[in-house]
Amino acid sequence: MKIGIVGNGLMGSAIAHRLLKRGFEVYLYNRSKERSNALVKEGAIRMEHPVMLGKKCNFVIVSVTDGYAVKQVLFGENGLIHCNNKHLTVVDTSTVLPEDSIYCANSMKKIGYKVIQAPIMGGPDATLKGDVISIVSGNKKIFEKCRKILNNFSKKIIYIGNADGAANYMKLALNLNIALIAISLSESIVFVKKSKVDPAIFLEILNSTYFKTGLSEIKGPKMIKNNFEPKFFLKNMLKDVQLLNECAKNSGTSLSFSSLAEQYYRIAVNRGYSELDYTAILKLFCELNNLAARN
Ligand SMILES: NC(=O)c1ccc[n+]([C@@H]2O[C@H](COP(=O)([O-])OP(=O)(O)OC[C@H]3O[C@@H](n4cnc5c(N)ncnc54)[C@H](OP(=O)(O)O)[C@@H]3O)[C@@H](O)[C@H]2O)c1
Repeated sequence: MKIGIVGNGLMGSAIAHRLLKRGFEVYLYNRSKERSNALVKEGAIRMEHPVMLGKKCNFVIVSVTDGYAVKQVLFGENGLIHCNNKHLTVVDTSTVLPEDSIYCANSMKKIGYKVIQAPIMGGPDATLKGDVISIVSGNKKIFEKCRKILNNFSKKIIYIGNADGAANYMKLALNLNIALIAISLSESIVFVKKSKVDPAIFLEILNSTYFKTGLSEIKGPKMIKNNFEPKFFLKNMLKDVQLLNECAKNSGTSLSFSSLAEQYYRIAVNRGYSELDYTAILKLFCELNNLAARN
């Protein structure tokens, strides 16, 4: 089966690798061409513009940074909207503002294309193992047709409902939870380091208790070794917290710690940590306390 993948960043590449392995014929578009070189070597076919994917494939997965990027690849000069393939279904896995999703879905539907939102919980490593959770909103019949694709990289698919954008609200809430856990784990590690007790033993104890998290188990040991190899860029965590705060403002919701989290992720971006993993928030907190992250 042919599948198009627009956006070959950390997540889009992982989805493409996985689908290639599962026997799909994969067509790619990425704004920066060189980013898809490894996938081309594996047998994927690179196209010059998103519109070409729409002409070749009835299903196109979009995995780009934000609503602006989604609009570019859908409605730009050579965007998917110009493909003239009435069988096209767009599966947007990007984490974006729900309002942007609604706008994109409505604009595509007007011309007869089908769209669902399917933001992902889990990173590139989990995607490669088929181990993520896909959160889906949009027309149920269309979702059911997309299941055979999502099944290839998802261990679980949760359908939220017919309303476009609903999955995006859910995804933003889930990412806020991660952003705040990363901050709380970082503050504990900073305290432990300042107290000159061993952060490895701190993690061993935490991870033996009911209070452990996936983050403390998987990322914690890397964090205390100052290993911030990116699986989810810190700049994208800032983007998600910003999006959630924007939604909260629109709905009159007061979220004190989310606002504060946005400030700290922004400081980390301003310090040059954009392209590190979001857990490099620890590096910032260490520096604010005159601690080398490795101490
Ligand atoms: N990494 C994770 O663990 C993870 C997990 C779940 C969800 N997500 C979400 O999945 C999406 C992709 O994340 P990622 O980690 O793959 O990010 P990434 O590595 O930063 O990749 C971003 C992708 O978006 C493209 N892009 C950005 N602006 C664009 C524009 N104006 N026009 C066209 N393409 C544009 C980039 O193209 P270039 O290469 O040309 O810059 C790249 O392909 C994001 O919404 C993210 O929040 C990520």
